[in-house]
Amino acid sequence: MSSENRPSVPNSLNEHWMPFTSNRDFKANPRLITEAKGVYLKTHHGKTQIDASSGLFCNPLGHGREEITEAVTKQLKTLDYAQPFQQGFGGSFELATKIAKHTPGDLNKIFYTICGSTAVETAIKIAIAYHRAKGDSKRFRFVGRERAYHGMNIGATSVGGMINNVKTFASVLMPGVLHMRHTHLPEHKFISGQPDTGAELANDLERICQNFGGENIAACIVEPVAGSTGCLVPPKGYLERLREICDNHGILLIFDEVICGWGRMGSVFASQEFGVVPDMMTLAKATTNGVVPMGVVACKDEMYDALMDSSPQGAIELFHGYTYSGIPVSVAAALAVQEIFEKDDIFNKVKGMVEYFQKSIFSLKDLDSVANIRGQGLMAGIDMKLNTKPGKAGFETFKACYDVGVNFKATGDCLIIAPQFICEKKHIDEIIDKLRTGITNYQKNQKN
Ligand SMILES: Cc1ncc(COP(=O)(O)O)c(C=O)c1O
Repeated sequence: MSSENRPSVPNSLNEHWMPFTSNRDFKANPRLITEAKGVYLKTHHGKTQIDASSGLFCNPLGHGREEITEAVTKQLKTLDYAQPFQQGFGGSFELATKIAKHTPGDLNKIFYTICGSTAVETAIKIAIAYHRAKGDSKRFRFVGRERAYHGMNIGATSVGGMINNVKTFASVLMPGVLHMRHTHLPEHKFISGQPDTGAELANDLERICQNFGGENIAACIVEPVAGSTGCLVPPKGYLERLREICDNHGILLIFDEVICGWGRMGSVFASQEFGVVPDMMTLAKATTNGVVPMGVVACKDEMYDALMDSSPQGAIELFHGYTYSGIPVSVAAALAVQEIFEKDDIFNKVKGMVEYFQKSIFSLKDLDSVANIRGQGLMAGIDMKLNTKPGKAGFETFKACYDVGVNFKATGDCLIIAPQFICEKKHIDEIIDKLRTGITNYQKNQKN
């Protein structure tokens, strides 16, 4: 059946086991999206919603971009698939050159993966392979951070730090992973941008080095701004200090920019926004405007060279890759995205909207049920006050907002707002108005 002829509610909801979803709640009261165009979505009830989180932070250029559809369609008609191992096609090289023009420092070597999780797992493997190539095979440890989200395969779950994602799987996670504390302090109340306090939390890495041997640590991975946990912005000086400690101990610093990258934080990458250059960077989501999966690991030239130099000529230098590493359809979408970034001057557009968005989102501070707001670039986290048990306020508010026509991602009790880069002021106003109405309705429902 073609997608146009599909009924908006399928006959059975039973068989699809939905990811990160309260399946029973959803199936009792489904929320299906039937159409998407620009900043708007349509629900199966025929209602229009504004997309206030760019899907899962992945469609910042708006839904239904003709340029991307055309590029993908043309690619499928010309070359639908090319093996990525020991052969290739031109587009992936062209894209790598374009990505490397934007990446900070000498992070010029681009390895393609399938998604954010596989980008993180690839970065973990590259870190180990790099140290081995340099004759340093004792580094086996990784350092992540509490409240981090890096994805859901074993590697990404291991370095992640969101407790619900970790506890069921503790027995199969990577050994040797240690976590720093997260950077959210009680005094960080209603702050837009970087908090003044908390840089010293980076010393957790130094402490781990002292206790476990810095010489045993392969890499430290952080999201420059922790996204999925609710927009935790690094304190001033924090990332700089992490960089310094990594340098002192020969530890690689990985920035997971799966959410932060491609403009979300104001600059093209958070690395540039905060003036700290990592050794590797992971990307996904906005790379293709979310329409087809793709992940990227950007590495320093020196790391690539070390692997090339340590392998015999003709040998495979890195025993790693995926069937869908940089396949034509993903590359076509990503190239179209690069063109849109340029022709629509997207990065400057975002910069121009940051102040308005940040000011607008903090106007929700007066609502009784709002406990805190944080923000950076075109992203913000709104913490809801606890309602009998963790997660209830967030989920109830999400549903109340969904009903009044504003869609976003809620994690636990935090509403994460990340408007599309194509938003105009009137769209930001609409998001804020609808959030106010939805949150107010949630509050009223609690009193009844
Ligand atoms: C920072 C970060 N890293 C990695 C991932 C995992 O990406 P994916 O869901 O594409 O595997 C996410 C997903 O939200 C993320 O926010």
